[in-house]
Amino acid sequence: MVTQHEHKDFRPLDHLAIIMDGNGRWAKQKNLPRIAGHQQGVEAVTRIVDACIRHNIRVLSLFAFSSENWGRPQQEVNALMELLLHFLATQRQKMLDGGIRLRVIGDVSRLSGPVQQALDEAQQVTSKGQTLTLVLALSYGGRDEIMRAARQIAKSVSRGELDPDQLDNKQFSTFLDTGDIPEPDLLIRTSGEMRISNFLLWQSAYAELYFTDVLWPDFDADELQKAIDDYLRRKRRFGLTDDQLSQQCQEEIND
Ligand code: FPP
Repeated sequence: MVTQHEHKDFRPLDHLAIIMDGNGRWAKQKNLPRIAGHQQGVEAVTRIVDACIRHNIRVLSLFAFSSENWGRPQQEVNALMELLLHFLATQRQKMLDGGIRLRVIGDVSRLSGPVQQALDEAQQVTSKGQTLTLVLALSYGGRDEIMRAARQIAKSVSRGELDPDQLDNKQFSTFLDTGDIPEPDLLIRTSGEMRISNFLLWQSAYAELYFTDVLWPDFDADELQKAIDDYLRRKRRFGLTDDQLSQQCQEEIND
C-alpha cells in the first residue's frame, strides 16, 4: 500500500469528489426495495468519511441528491430526505469529535423547511471543524450552480459593484456554491456509468476521473485505496508539457 506522502511524484489528494451511484441496482440484485440500497449507501458514506480522514484528505464532496432527483417517485424522495435527517442527527457528535465541517451546496431553497433547518444547524455547529470538510451536494446541478452564479454576477455588474472586464476565473469561482473550497483532484463514480452527470462541472475541469463497476453500497476502504493508488500513478499536466512539469516540481522541492 502506497500512502500519498510516500509516492515519488507526490501530488496531494486534497479534495475527493464522489458520484455515489448504484444504490437502486444493489437493492434490485438482492430483491430489496430501492430504499434499502439508499440505507446501505449511507453506511458506505460513514465508512468513506472515516477512510478519507485516515488518508489526510481535506475535502470530501458527495453527490447526495441532484436537481434531477426531484423527478423520482415522491416516496423515494421522501425516504432520501428522511435518511438525510437521520444521518445529520446520528452523525452530529461524530462530526464534532472528529473535526468534520459540514458544507452544503446546491439550490437548498427547494428543500423542505425542516431539512433546511437541520442543515443550517449542522453547518453552524460544525463550522470550526479542521480535519475534513464534508460537502453534501443536495438539490444540486452544475449548470444550475453556474447559472445562479452568472445571475449574481449580472446583478453585481448592474449595481456598479463589478467591472465585467475585470472578471476572471478566480473571481467567477467565488460566486459558485463552493466559494473558497479547492477544486477536486479526483472524481470517482461508482456503478460502471461513465458520466459526470452535472456534478461540479466548473470545478472538475482538471480533476482526474476514476470509474469503477462497484455499486456504491459495496464501496469501502479497499476500493477507495484502489482509486487512490490509481490517482497517484497519474501524471497531472494541467495543460503543460512534461518538461515544464518537471521544472515546476524541482522548483517546489527547492522552495
Ligand atoms: C444513486 O443511486 C444515489 C442517489 C440518487 C442518492 C445517493 C444517496 C445516498 C447514498 C444516501 C443519502 C446520503 C446521505 C449523505 C445521507 P441510484 O438510486 O441512482 O441507483 P441506480 O442507478 O442503481 O438506480
